[in-house]
Amino acid sequence: MNWPMIPPAPDTPPCGPPVPVDGDWVVTRHADVVAVLTDPRYVVPVAPGGPAGTLAWLRGTVSRFSAPDRHPGRRALGVAALRDLDPDELRDAATRLTTQTLDRLAAGWIDSGPLGAARGGDAGERQETGNRGGPAAGGGGVGERQETGDPAGGARAGRMEVMGALARRVPLEVLAARLGLADPAAAVPAVTAVAAAYHPGADPAAVARADRAVAALLAMSPPAPAEAAANRIGLLVQAADATAGLIGAAVRHGLAAPAALGTADLLAEVLRLDPPVRATRRVATGATRLAGRQIGPDATLLLRFDAANRDPAVHPDPDRFRPGGPDQADHAGRPAGAGRNGHLALAHRPVRALTFGAGTRGCPGERHALALAAGVVEVLRARCRPAGTPVRYAPHPTLRVPTSLEVMFR
Ligand code: HEM
Repeated sequence: MNWPMIPPAPDTPPCGPPVPVDGDWVVTRHADVVAVLTDPRYVVPVAPGGPAGTLAWLRGTVSRFSAPDRHPGRRALGVAALRDLDPDELRDAATRLTTQTLDRLAAGWIDSGPLGAARGGDAGERQETGNRGGPAAGGGGVGERQETGDPAGGARAGRMEVMGALARRVPLEVLAARLGLADPAAAVPAVTAVAAAYHPGADPAAVARADRAVAALLAMSPPAPAEAAANRIGLLVQAADATAGLIGAAVRHGLAAPAALGTADLLAEVLRLDPPVRATRRVATGATRLAGRQIGPDATLLLRFDAANRDPAVHPDPDRFRPGGPDQADHAGRPAGAGRNGHLALAHRPVRALTFGAGTRGCPGERHALALAAGVVEVLRARCRPAGTPVRYAPHPTLRVPTSLEVMFR
């Protein structure tokens, strides 16, 4: 199979040694990103906390923004809650809810309009060309910008908007039900509102919406000590944008792919080439050296998963969509898994994308995310085809989640 090239999303830096940009060290090589993620001298920026039941309290209590001494115990709370969830069951539930939603949309009973209100302003949104075939048709056009005046998503004859109707809703509703929230459907817009203000730099109106949403989520959560309740909500918030973005990317790049391409392989390669989480940050606790560069104390590092996932040192032919990894002879005629010198080497086995992070802070919800996304994407692959309309993205420093992505019913 001649798989297509998927060029980097706009603003993806090239892969190279760490470089200082606007006060951050930008780290783009796979080995350098892994070195930082697994070195305890680099820590996550810590959230200070705030009044009980607010967004600031949530940020100050979840493992994600905790200092190294508090992190293991808090992470264990989230991991314990996840241990009760069976990924196969999550996938089946996501399949059922997606099927039910498509049935209703197809019958014209509900509207697929996006969750725009909960996400706040989408000023500066950018559009990129929609997928007109993806891997099946040899791709093409993916990653281009386009300035067209396509109207906002919503139900139109034979079409649906995937992000609001499914990608932003189904994974959260399924997870919220299994985590014991009393009203899983009402949890969805609340979690979405918290996610919109979760990372530093949110505007005051978004923070006020998130404060109200945290209170609502606590009210519908099962009784638990404050730290356990916060980390349960933290699971939902962490799941929200990233899982929606993965579904969006899989639909954009793989909706028309041949059925022989397994959905797990599709998701893995989409995570590498169009990651919903493009980067994460660390702060250096002292003077360190990274790839020959002197990093000062308190320096901030921006670890670019999107660049590292295309590092030619670990991904031969890095821009090519290659499900299952380099499993066929490459363009130089080398056999699968062979290094430059032709020797088969461990280092040249397919290397996982870095999109779920690595080390002690790496994503504990990876299997759950993949199961939920697979449940949604599989139904869409069976019942829908690309609409060819532009895909819209809201600007964000580290996330890449379509705000609008249309498909057609078959
Ligand atoms: C495609 C979907 C997802 C992606 C790409 C993703 C990616 C990530 C990444 C990169 C991190 C680490 C950030 C860092 O080290 O700075 C992380 C952390 C985390 N993720 Fe995910 N995630 C996804 C879905 C989920 C889901 C579904 C859950 C829960 C069910 C979840 C729960 C968490 C939690 C709790 C953390 C914080 C871990 C800690 O504090 O140690 N994620 N995720």
